Amino acid sequence: MEKIFGKPLITQEEIVHRIRELGLRITRDYEGKNLVLVGVLKGAFAFTADLARSIGIPAQIDFLMTSSAPSSDGAGTTRLLSEPSLNLKGTDVLVIEDIIDSGKTARLIMDVLARHNPESVKFCALLDKTGGREVSFSPDYTGFSIPNRFVIGYGLDYKNKYRTLPFIAVLEQTS
Ligand code: IMP
Ligand code: MG
Repeated sequence: MEKIFGKPLITQEEIVHRIRELGLRITRDYEGKNLVLVGVLKGAFAFTADLARSIGIPAQIDFLMTSSAPSSDGAGTTRLLSEPSLNLKGTDVLVIEDIIDSGKTARLIMDVLARHNPESVKFCALLDKTGGREVSFSPDYTGFSIPNRFVIGYGLDYKNKYRTLPFIAVLEQTS
């Protein structure tokens, strides 16, 4: 069975433009705050690097790592592989994630970070598949709302491939 992708769903130019807008908003919203950006590896590595450089106020940067392991019902469960290493007590944390689908990963991340006693935790997702929700979750900042299709590129993978593409495309199944 072969997988292919067609023309970009979201082009590199659209990503660059949207990140500039998000950066301006975050810069305004976090003026005077103790901002810590927490990128979610591996999927958000590209988005975190680009968004961080579009934010015009000093920010610390850290990462956590999640992994979705297939479960018996095929839905997949998210596990936490590593937590942030900075002391987040009293800081204003902004989570930077690639995509929200069922909402389970986002919920897990918010629960984990709350235990670090930050002053605030907000969530920024590049992509939101609002049609995929199994638990309710609304990000504070969203790059693009997309249809309920499997996408790859700009950090997002299929079997660990395609992360290095500079655009986002829908992965189609051929034969
Ligand atoms: P959740 O269903 O909201 O918990 O999303 C779990 C994780 O699955 C996300 O953080 C992504 O890493 C991954 N994921 C969800 N949808 C896609 C997709 O379309 N392409 C690649 N990864 C995805
Ligand atoms: Mg992810």
